[in-house]
Amino acid sequence: MITDYSKYPTADAAPIAVNMLESFRAVGYSMEAAVADILDNSISAGAKNIWIDFDWNGAATTFSLKDDGCGMTNDELINAMRPGSRDPNEERDVNDLGRFGLGLKTASFSQCRKYTVISKKQSKEPVFWTWDLDYVYHHAKEWKLIASLPNGNWQEQIQNLSSGTIVIWQDLDHLLKGIAAENQKAYNKFLQTMERVKKHIATVFHRYIEGNKIKIFFSGREVEAWNPFLIHHTATQNFPEEPLHNGKIIVRGFVLPHKSKLTPEEFRNAEGVRGWNAQQGFYVYRNERMLVSGEWLGLFRKEEHFKLARIMIDLPNSLDGEWQIDIKKSVARAPFGLKDNLKAYASQVKAQAVEVYRHRGKVVQRNSGTQYFQPVWIEKQKDGKRYYEINQEHPFITSMDIKTIKPLLRLLEETLPVPLIVINESENPDSFFRPFEKMAASNELKELLKTVYKSLLNNNNNTPEQAKSRLLLIEPFNEYPELIECL
Ligand SMILES: Nc1ncnc2c1ncn2[C@@H]1O[C@H](COP(=O)(O)OP(=O)(O)OP(=O)(O)O)[C@@H](O)[C@H]1O
Ligand SMILES: [Mg+2]
Repeated sequence: MITDYSKYPTADAAPIAVNMLESFRAVGYSMEAAVADILDNSISAGAKNIWIDFDWNGAATTFSLKDDGCGMTNDELINAMRPGSRDPNEERDVNDLGRFGLGLKTASFSQCRKYTVISKKQSKEPVFWTWDLDYVYHHAKEWKLIASLPNGNWQEQIQNLSSGTIVIWQDLDHLLKGIAAENQKAYNKFLQTMERVKKHIATVFHRYIEGNKIKIFFSGREVEAWNPFLIHHTATQNFPEEPLHNGKIIVRGFVLPHKSKLTPEEFRNAEGVRGWNAQQGFYVYRNERMLVSGEWLGLFRKEEHFKLARIMIDLPNSLDGEWQIDIKKSVARAPFGLKDNLKAYASQVKAQAVEVYRHRGKVVQRNSGTQYFQPVWIEKQKDGKRYYEINQEHPFITSMDIKTIKPLLRLLEETLPVPLIVINESENPDSFFRPFEKMAASNELKELLKTVYKSLLNNNNNTPEQAKSRLLLIEPFNEYPELIECL
């Protein structure tokens, strides 16, 4: 039934400008998320280069984001400054990173009380407009922009581009209220925030940077991409792509290399801003722009032994509604109908991640012909409880008089400090030596290796080559192929 609205009296309930603008400030952006939202606009405008700069002056610091995208006409700029400038339900160009017609306003006001946009279309004169909360509050009391431009060479900068846009944030009160320019401590803290912003951009836009679609300069230095999947590392394991939702969504899993396969620098770099454990999970991209960086989307809990699992999910912008993309572009939720598929795929990746985590990166050949991998410890279960036993088929154990050492093995098995190990590993991941990694232990390892090698040669009638290939399947020698080679 169509409602006849003409029969109702009406009352004006337009938002009160200043209150509404103040509320935008509480959408909950971090500085880094706000910057990323402004960069989305630059990328949607076809920019090839983006320059992010700041000019430290305590509370009077300016922060600017410049792009060489298509720029805006005066009318387009005024419309861009208008909250709700676009219909969120409107179908957008496939490469458009926007959705709500809000980002420029909410992201800017989340950080500052005053911002200016100066923009230039090709072969046109630049135009600029400013939203100034103090002006709206004290004078206009209305949705009114002012045509002011902050001090600086902004006109000159924009004239140097054939087209482009600069967003200039002033009065960054959330970060810098009342701070004097000489305040060294505040300056250092501000620099730390800038470092976080840079890392966030390197992460969120890594596929644009890697694909040479965009160059981003932060304080004049080009930002390098941070790829969460160590795609080019030979020890990274790739899972086959899986198309979901009629091929609109692509899921692709990676198991990252074990720590022992990475240099200390690679290891630190790959851990990302939040650390190895926190960075496990799904990485959700919308048009190659990262929205979510390492979350299990409510499907699993993060656990230490899954920390090498990272899974890429690619979405088109046509599925924004179903994935509940938020204004800040930092939340996405898997639609109910896809949860089972995602869970099944992720479970395979996680299972492999546990293998790599436990066996220290060795691609374990559990059964190569008649030969089995021989670990030192075996996990067992009884009445739903787990315990660990020493593998009595381990060639080192079989080379000994089992009767004499049995009580010792039992003592070790029964008193293995599992809870202590678990607590230490979860509080301080990767803080353990790997077997025989300590300098002093390396001679012992060589002796041990020789003993087992001899016993393999004597007892099993192996040739030296056979004995060596056997050793590659025996823990902990499997981690030291170079020592086996030298035998
Ligand atoms: N750097 C820019 N270059 C060219 N046009 C821009 C630029 N920034 C913003 N615009 C224009 O202003 C409009 C409003 O931007 P805004 O970020 O507020 O919303 P949006 O990008 O459409 O959606 P969202 O709220 O999801 O970010 C954009 O749709 C675009 O047309
Ligand atoms: Mg936007």
